[in-house]
Amino acid sequence: LWGHQAAALTTVVPVCLLNLRWDLTPDQIKCRTDKLIQRIKKIYDSIGALDLDKVSFENTLKPLADAKMEYTVSRHVLDFPQYVSPCSRARSASTEADKKLSEFDVEMSMRNDVFQRLLALQKQLNDLKPEAKRLMERLINLGRRKGLHLPKNIQEEIKSISKLISKLSIDFNKNLNEDNTYLLFGEDELDGMSESYMNGLEKTEDGLFKVTLKYPHYFPLMKRCCVPETRQKMEIAFHSRCKEVNTVILEQLISLRAKMAKFLGFNTYADYVLEMNMAKNSTNVAHFLDEFWKTLKPVGNQERQYILELKRAESERLGREFDGEIHAWDMLYYMNQVEQVKFAVDKDKLIKYFPLEVVTEGLLGIYQDLLGLTFKQVHNAHVWHDSVRLYFVLDTASGEEIGQFYLDLHPREGKYGHAACFSLQPGCLGPDGERRLPVAAMVANFTKPTISLPSLLQHHEVETFFHEFGHVMHEICTRVEFAEFSGTLVETDFVEVPSQTLENWVWEKEPLQRMSRHYKHGSAIPDSLLDRLIASRVANTGLMNLRQVVLSKVDQSFHTKSSANTAEEFARHCKDILGIPATPGTNMTASFSHLAGGYDGQYYSYLWSEVFSMDIFFSRFKKEGIMNPKVGMEYRKVILEAGGSVDGVDMLKEFLGREPSQTAFFHCKGLTKLESPHNSH
Ligand SMILES: *[C@@H]1O[C@H](CO)[C@@H](O)[C@H](O)[C@H]1NC(C)=O
Ligand SMILES: *[C@@H]1O[C@H](CO)[C@@H](O)[C@H](O)[C@H]1NC(C)=O
Ligand SMILES: *[C@@H]1O[C@H](CO)[C@@H](O)[C@H](O)[C@H]1NC(C)=O
Ligand SMILES: [Zn+2]
Repeated sequence: LWGHQAAALTTVVPVCLLNLRWDLTPDQIKCRTDKLIQRIKKIYDSIGALDLDKVSFENTLKPLADAKMEYTVSRHVLDFPQYVSPCSRARSASTEADKKLSEFDVEMSMRNDVFQRLLALQKQLNDLKPEAKRLMERLINLGRRKGLHLPKNIQEEIKSISKLISKLSIDFNKNLNEDNTYLLFGEDELDGMSESYMNGLEKTEDGLFKVTLKYPHYFPLMKRCCVPETRQKMEIAFHSRCKEVNTVILEQLISLRAKMAKFLGFNTYADYVLEMNMAKNSTNVAHFLDEFWKTLKPVGNQERQYILELKRAESERLGREFDGEIHAWDMLYYMNQVEQVKFAVDKDKLIKYFPLEVVTEGLLGIYQDLLGLTFKQVHNAHVWHDSVRLYFVLDTASGEEIGQFYLDLHPREGKYGHAACFSLQPGCLGPDGERRLPVAAMVANFTKPTISLPSLLQHHEVETFFHEFGHVMHEICTRVEFAEFSGTLVETDFVEVPSQTLENWVWEKEPLQRMSRHYKHGSAIPDSLLDRLIASRVANTGLMNLRQVVLSKVDQSFHTKSSANTAEEFARHCKDILGIPATPGTNMTASFSHLAGGYDGQYYSYLWSEVFSMDIFFSRFKKEGIMNPKVGMEYRKVILEAGGSVDGVDMLKEFLGREPSQTAFFHCKGLTKLESPHNSH
């Protein structure tokens, strides 16, 4: 079913792929990891040994940049198999390699000798090109952020704190990934669940159904199971995952982070993190969130009232006692009903129109047309599993090859269970000044096809596909000089902007028609169903975004003090902002993996970047045509090619022709009328 997309097959293996090997044995992974560490350390040693008055771009910054590229290229061959390798020993070796390399990262980022050489270089009157100057300033700032300008004993302290932080973060997520909790229910307790859901559940000898807390089990149940007691049990179990171990870890992390920020001269850890973001400081974030909350509050109130009415009506219909409250385990269930009642999107019907092969073909087509690209599937490519496809990407106008990507879309034993984009090689200039092509992989967990049924995607999975593929394009379109700025290596609160912008295409009629077809009779989605789907985008806007405000504020609150009672703080914000209490005894933040996954102090980024992605979409694409290749090309040039070589806010200003604003977001969500835009385009 996949093959038909590959109109132009090729057996040529492009040169830059020769570095990428996916068949390393556990021993080779270990051995290459050690060698890589030695090799890079040697480069740092020789830079660190230079006479301070002999430093130059050629002997300091350039070798550092080249080492960074070589390191990145080699590292991903070692750290990526942990997510995708079919061999469990290779996965473990890769996890071990990742740990070792992460420690090495910390070690290298603390190299005082190298830092001193960079400072010396900065003092020279040199005419560095803008991107080289940006690199130098960034490396120096990163050194300061590690405390390299501070006394030796404090440096040592910071070094041991950051090692501990990275170990604890890995443990936090490992605990979560290894959580195998499941609940057993009788058939009557799962009333409301679809046949396909029930068929997908394991059954015990005494006829009970085994429901795990993994997303494909948890979320459908929370949305559809009409037995409140079952939802309650599930919600409690879900938000109690790892609560003993991870609550302790999280609270340790919070105080360690605060301690580190103090050493580095920041008032709070949030301010330390935000210095590197578009947002700049915690005051700006608080401002942004409060403004946002203010606009959403009345909408949230209305939605809660509406849901309460639904619950009352259902209670009466079923002769149940009505307790007059929305519980945490009611939220997804009634929000789903809002979609059913208000927008009547028949998801069981809709899914039949989104076979994976059709979606993929449509999606790849849209991206190619919009960005002026041509994708070609590589036949007999060297991949890590039979089901993985490799494509290379050409600039349509020039025919020049610009990068490659893998698609690895189906679940496997031991494979990463969610959808994500992994960068595998940076796009930048090599030591010889020649361009090195970027490589990325999209990994997903879309249902496998069976003999009787193709892989069918729900609409939200189509959206996920668009989103992650947006990251892939961000990687692939990169045209920077230095690996340090390649692709998605941008500010954390900007990194989602390009992919969230592209999500908008799955809410527009023409693209939806282009990537759908009934899996049996090939017919188009009926207009009425399509219109209802598109209208449903505003369903539950208030509550969903208020929950994001809760999580953002909880995160900010954890990281603007030196200690926190995490469960209590979460519960308080939940009640105040969402108006729906956390279930007593649960400890949601113990499974809030973002807080140990690089989003600490930065969870607000989701809302922040959604707001600005809406600005991009509405102010340019929606106005000038969503498939307008001129706007698409400008988007590719201004936003995607620049990677991290330009500040996010400057890219936005250039593309929008004015300061970014929140207006488009609220308009899109149907909350305000769009003010007449005063941009210069
Ligand atoms: C935060 O950053 C803004 C500029 O983005 C600045 O005007 C403001 O003074 C800063 N606030 C604090 C408390 O540093
Ligand atoms: C991935 O898909 C498999 C098979 O459908 C499923 O069992 C598993 O729970 C999914 N993993 C996650 C994390 O969603
Ligand atoms: C959160 O988990 C910790 C550790 O088990 C526990 O001490 C604390 O009471 C929990 N919080 C709540 C609100 O249950
Ligand atoms: Zn993303």
